[in-house]
Parts: sequence; structure tokens; C-alpha cells
Amino acid sequence: MQSAVSVKDLKIAYGDHTVIEKMSIDIAPREFLVLLGPSGCGKSTLLNAIAGLQDITAGEVWISGKNVSWEEPKDRGIGMVFQSYALYPRMSVRKNLSFGLRVAGLPKTEIEARVARTAALLHLDTLLDRRPAALSGGQRQRVAIGRALVREVDVFLFDEPLSNLDAKLRNELRVEIKKLHQRLGNTMIYVTHDQVEALTLADRIAIMRDGVIQQLASPAEIYRRPANLFVAGFIGAPAMNFIEGRIERGDAAPVFRSNGLTIDLSGYSFRAVAVEGPATLGFRPEHLVLDGAASSLPTIPGRVSVVEPMGSDAVIWFDWADQSLSLRLMGDVTLEPGDAVAPGLDIAKASLFGADGSRL
Ligand SMILES: Nc1ncnc2c1ncn2[C@@H]1O[C@H](COP(=O)(O)OP(=O)(O)O)[C@@H](O)[C@H]1O
Ligand SMILES: [Mg+2]
Repeated sequence: MQSAVSVKDLKIAYGDHTVIEKMSIDIAPREFLVLLGPSGCGKSTLLNAIAGLQDITAGEVWISGKNVSWEEPKDRGIGMVFQSYALYPRMSVRKNLSFGLRVAGLPKTEIEARVARTAALLHLDTLLDRRPAALSGGQRQRVAIGRALVREVDVFLFDEPLSNLDAKLRNELRVEIKKLHQRLGNTMIYVTHDQVEALTLADRIAIMRDGVIQQLASPAEIYRRPANLFVAGFIGAPAMNFIEGRIERGDAAPVFRSNGLTIDLSGYSFRAVAVEGPATLGFRPEHLVLDGAASSLPTIPGRVSVVEPMGSDAVIWFDWADQSLSLRLMGDVTLEPGDAVAPGLDIAKASLFGADGSRL
């Protein structure tokens, strides 16, 4: 199947500062791909290169089977939505939506039909005669999305479109964007530094660091089987717990040893054969079971330092060997600071990383 968007051996440098070094990625038609990573890792640079707003140093960009590496943005068949949307303040919503189409010289009836379709899709029908000043932040951002949608192209690029909105509005528009994608079935490339947006919206997430894709996989795969320590630490809130130690050959199966702790690894699926040596054990707060002894799991004994109720669940922080570890509990919590706990670890769900940080 022909990719909707392909980036081939892309390199982008500002003088001798290389931001992206030889990146390749294929995005399937109808796919929702999220580019996720910390600020400054090159997400916008990559998106702008796909859009044609950024010169590339080497490599190629293909859209719908065509090499567009040197095409103007307007000829690439894309629609783009930015974080800081500049609407035309003196124009009505209707004019804001139709402006690009009028400049492109589309027939009046076609413009009217498209504006009507887009307005209906984004619940802007009753706002068409208002100016931006008379709209709320969320409504303005919907108009900005609408300006991209009226182009009726196959590929939409979003660069942190919700970052400027408050939390409630952000959650609402996130759901709207997901519905929009389900209804339109376009290809979407969506940049964010927000892991919740990435996990909830994406078919696949490309998680980036310093211009390099660390892992490209479904949200579930990235959450359950992070490819390296960076991905493991970036995704999840509270963050994954990490314990430094060593993998050693046990009597029957390999074991992980750290600070008096010995954990049988027979339930862990190694990518390759387990080798002895330094390693980091990573586990999420929900991978601990409060009553470790009853569950016959290996236990990590400690003392509760903080209880954080979160509504539907609670996060319990406990001290073990000079470290603060977290454990997630559903339902009501009767624990208090100072209580002794011995949670059990479900090793089948945990992650092990080697000395170079990659998943074992
Ligand atoms: N015009 C520019 N000149 C020099 N360096 C730039 C320029 N634009 C961006 N950069 C650098 O490129 C890197 C990636 O930036 P950017 O793509 O905006 O990151 P992100 O969108 O992931 O936050 C950063 O280190 C930034 O400082
Ligand atoms: Mg950016």
C-alpha cells in the first residue's frame, strides 16, 4: 500500500547544528500519527519539513506517492493547524474560513458548500457571522482547525493545537479531534509534548529525543513494552519506578538482585537470552500489588511516606533503600504515612533495561 506521507533519510541542520539526522518514517493512509517528545527535540522542525515551511538539508519528503521535497506548501495537498492561530480579526468566522479558498479562486458555490460542511462538522454553524473577538478560546481554535479542514485535503498536520487552552477545554477539543478523524478518515500527523494527548489520539506514536525516533509503535505497546529507558521514563504518570541492580544466573532462572532484593525473572519475557550484568528494573505504580505476601509475588518492603488520593484511585509513595517508589491502589485507602507495606511485584508486566538503556 502506498504511504500517505513518507520521510526518507531526512536531515535538517542549521549551519553545523544538526537537528534531525537521517530520519525515515512511513505514515499509512487514514493513520493518526503523533510525534511526541520533550520541547526542543525537533517535532516542529519535522512537521514543518513535511509541510514545506522548512528547507531540508538532505533526504526526501513524499506525499500521496509524489516527491514534494521542493514543492511550495500550497502545492503539497496538506492542511495545517498551529499552536498560535492567527485569525483575521476584522473578518467574520465565515470569511476566515473561506479566505484561502477565495484566494485560490474557487467558484463561489463550491466555497459556500465547503464552509457549510466544515462549520457543521466543528459546530460553528451559529457563529459564522461573528468576529474572532466575540468567540471563546475553544471556538477560536475550532475556527483555526476549520481553516485547515475547508481545504478538503487528505493530509492534516497539527502542531500543538491545544497547548494554549485551559485543561477542561483541552480535554473537550481532544475528544472533538478524535471524532473528527473517525468521521473524515484523513491522515493526521499531530505534534505534542503531552503524553495524554499522544496516548489517547494516536494509532501510532513516534517518540522523539534529540531529533531521533526512539520508538514507533501503538500507544499500548509503548506503554507496556517501552524500547528504552528514555521512553519508559517519558510515558506514564506518575513515572515508572526504576531500581538499579544486576541480573545474575539463579539456580533455575535468572534473577535480578539489588540492595538485598532478589527477584526471580522466570516470568519475564526477555527479547534475547538473558545475560549477567548491570541492569535497571522498571515497573509502573499499577504493577505492584499491595498485599505481596498473600499474592506469593516477590515483595519490595518499605514504609509509606505520602498518600495521594486521585479520586478513582490513589498513589501511595513508600521508601525502599533510599528511594521513593510509587504504587497505585484502586478504591478507598486506609494507609497512612509511617505504615509498613510489602507490595508484590508482577514481574511479567515489568521492564528490564541493560547498561546501554535498551530493553532486555
Ligand atoms: N531557525 C533556527 N535556527 C537554529 N536552530 C533552530 C531554529 N529553529 C529551531 N532550532 C533548533 O532546533 C531544535 C528543534 O526545535 P523544534 O523543532 O522547534 O523543537 P520542538 O518542536 O520539538 O519543541 C531546537 O534545538 C531549536 O533550538
Ligand atoms: Mg514545537
